[in-house]
Amino acid sequence: MKFFIDTANLEQIKEMQALGIIDGVTTNPTLLAKEGAEPIEQLRKICQVVDGPVSGEVIGLTTEEMINEARELSKIAPNIVVKIPFTKNGIKAVKILEPEGIKTNVTLVFSQNQVLIAAKAGASYISPFIGRLMDNGQNEIDMLWESMEILNAYDFKSELIVASIRNTRHVIESAKMGAHIATIPFNVLEKMFKHPNTDQGLEAFLKDWEKLQGELKK
Ligand code: G3P
Repeated sequence: MKFFIDTANLEQIKEMQALGIIDGVTTNPTLLAKEGAEPIEQLRKICQVVDGPVSGEVIGLTTEEMINEARELSKIAPNIVVKIPFTKNGIKAVKILEPEGIKTNVTLVFSQNQVLIAAKAGASYISPFIGRLMDNGQNEIDMLWESMEILNAYDFKSELIVASIRNTRHVIESAKMGAHIATIPFNVLEKMFKHPNTDQGLEAFLKDWEKLQGELKK
């Protein structure tokens, strides 16, 4: 399973990258706006830090606008992936961009129908937003299972990026179903490292070791 980090913050990316667990990065207009930097420049900096796929999103709503923006974004670095919102115009753009060699990540996906259409269009990546489904009171885990069943039932090349992850359980559920990628926020990655028994156990081991050293000196 691949881990992407869902952030546009360079410090967060570098910190997790240093642990060797990050395979790519996803951003969106909101995440880039949080950083307050010029978006193209910020994406360029991220691409310099990470070898794997880095998603940047188009803003235009017509197919033509999306295609033009995607072509510009793809000039930033070879590892740029262009996020395209799931709309009819977006799907048309995916059909044109993928054969040009521009990788797309269809975003704002909320249903199995949308997953199937994005896969048929030939998207490299498809991003269901499971946290927002959960917020709506919908069963986000069932939606993921069925999406994976659909992708596995045929020879679709699309990889599923589980997005809008809210907690560590979302990552574990994604792993259990063999989802290709989880794009995980920094705070959730931090929580995945933590367990109180690990800290308490380590403290006890060190205390006992020190006690033994003291006894041996007597
Ligand atoms: O990758 C999509 C993600 O950034 C959306 O997350 O938390 O805004 O629903 P959220």
